[in-house]
Amino acid sequence: MIYSKKVLEHFMHPHNQGTIPNPSGEGIVGNPTCGDVMRIYIKVKKKKKEEVIEDIKFETLGCASAIATSSMVTDLAKGRTLGEALKISRDDVAEALEGLPPIKMHCSNLASEALAAAIEDYRQKEKEKEE
Ligand code: FES
Repeated sequence: MIYSKKVLEHFMHPHNQGTIPNPSGEGIVGNPTCGDVMRIYIKVKKKKKEEVIEDIKFETLGCASAIATSSMVTDLAKGRTLGEALKISRDDVAEALEGLPPIKMHCSNLASEALAAAIEDYRQKEKEKEE
């Protein structure tokens, strides 16, 4: 399998790997076929009317592409508003990594889904606080 230079870089030296204690939101997704699991933690800060991802970390048990896409999605989402972060698609992640082999595209799905799940978890918690 041929990986791009960027994929190898992020796989060998992943960015934002680890956990956030007491995160604002946490998302976990897995792929039942390959068994890979990805968890994303976000710390959200309210700035005026915007909610911004101030910090983001991941823990991933999976293949090289799963690690690289986790690393890249956290880079892409850091400092973004929640609305902007939700627009990050699997194609954005794959493109930023200079492409993924076709059979590895589902790995970038996991990354954007885990991010969306963390945002959803945050929004749910905020809703519960209001009730
Ligand atoms: Fe399944 Fe990479 S092979 S996430």
